[in-house]
Amino acid sequence: MIRFTLNDRDYEYSGDDDTPLLWVLRDSAGLTGTKYGCGTGQCRACTVHVNGQARRACVTSIKSVTGQTVTTIEGLSHDASHPVQQAWRETNVAQCGYCQSGQIMAVAAMLERRPAPSDEDIDREHRNICRCGTYPRIRKAIHRAAELSRKEPDNE
Ligand code: FES
Ligand code: FES
Repeated sequence: MIRFTLNDRDYEYSGDDDTPLLWVLRDSAGLTGTKYGCGTGQCRACTVHVNGQARRACVTSIKSVTGQTVTTIEGLSHDASHPVQQAWRETNVAQCGYCQSGQIMAVAAMLERRPAPSDEDIDREHRNICRCGTYPRIRKAIHRAAELSRKEPDNE
């Protein structure tokens, strides 16, 4: 039995220890906001937080999160009020939307360690792929999210 915290609740998984976290989230926990893109750690559509750090759920085994805290897009905020979610809406970032939960989770983690990223920081650190090419809006929304985070330091 593998136990961990999932979106602020205790969660237990009794399947294979080597199952990727992504499939436990989607198929066992029913949290389908986290997406499958490549399955090989390349695209980052599956980004979630493990202890507040961005992790690719497709290449993270479920046993490696034993006792850890996992947050998915469903748990980033209770009412979609996280500064990154606000900025994404204001900026109308999404096109097809498929990559966007991974984008948002990656940016939320980045802003925790780098509250005011420059364009160079974004180019270097934000590596999520968007097949629709929404990169200019992603960049704009990251700057806006950083601004909103500074105004709402206690916002989760
Ligand atoms: S689905 Fe995980 S990195 Fe592509
Ligand atoms: S919005 Fe379509 S893949 Fe990113």
